[in-house]
Amino acid sequence: MKRSAHEVWNTADRARLEHFASLVAADEAGLPPHRRADREFVIGETRLIRELAAQAGTVIEFGSGIGRSLLPGAREFPTTRFLGLDSAPEPVRLMALLAEEEGLANLRGLLADVRRVPLRDSSVDRVLIPYQTFGIFLGRVRDRSLVEARRILRPGGALYIGGFANLDLAADCYPAWGLTPSRIDPETRLVHLDGFDSLWATEDQVLVHAERAGFALVHRQDCELGFSLVLGPR
Ligand SMILES: C[S@@+](CC[C@H](N)C(=O)[O-])C[C@H]1O[C@@H](n2cnc3c(N)ncnc32)[C@H](O)[C@@H]1O
Repeated sequence: MKRSAHEVWNTADRARLEHFASLVAADEAGLPPHRRADREFVIGETRLIRELAAQAGTVIEFGSGIGRSLLPGAREFPTTRFLGLDSAPEPVRLMALLAEEEGLANLRGLLADVRRVPLRDSSVDRVLIPYQTFGIFLGRVRDRSLVEARRILRPGGALYIGGFANLDLAADCYPAWGLTPSRIDPETRLVHLDGFDSLWATEDQVLVHAERAGFALVHRQDCELGFSLVLGPR
């Protein structure tokens, strides 16, 4: 059944946890190139997020969905506070339920928009915007999310941004994610989907946004599908 991008990301769908777990567990040699690239991205990103969470008091993810990227850290680091912010009520509700089922008192959902994060200035150690979330923040939301990240980060804190950039893989990747793009535009680097668009920004384009919001690059990790960036407040 064909689903819109909104339905894929904004509903309470436990299957997404299983989808990513089985991708990571898959035998790399048996996967087609686009799935291998997706797997490499997820594994590299998960490792980096783990390192960032290990040294943090409070971690927040913008666009956390059902908490896929926060659940492993919440299990492993029980004294760290994990906050999952998302503007869609269904996934936030499911994340809270998953946390409750596992007895994870350190994982909490925040139903809010990234343009106005309901947290005080300098109150968190890590802001995470993993996978392709930055690319689906529309228009000005992208810049606002970084301004908000800069505002709530403590001095010495870190921002993580992941992103897909290799447009050559897009046409193969989307069907594997259950989506059918109506158009992939190499000029604008936008993938047009039913529900919303996804910007496959280059690493340099993302850095321009981040620098404008007051961040400097600390660490970069490239892979076939895209990049992982760790930035610090300037
Ligand atoms: C690509 S999904 C990623 C979900 C989750 N991080 C994952 O990997 O499973 C992006 C998420 O960003 C959320 N989102 C989009 N625009 C938002 C906004 N303006 N404020 C807060 N969340 C937003 C969507 O509801 C969606 O859950």
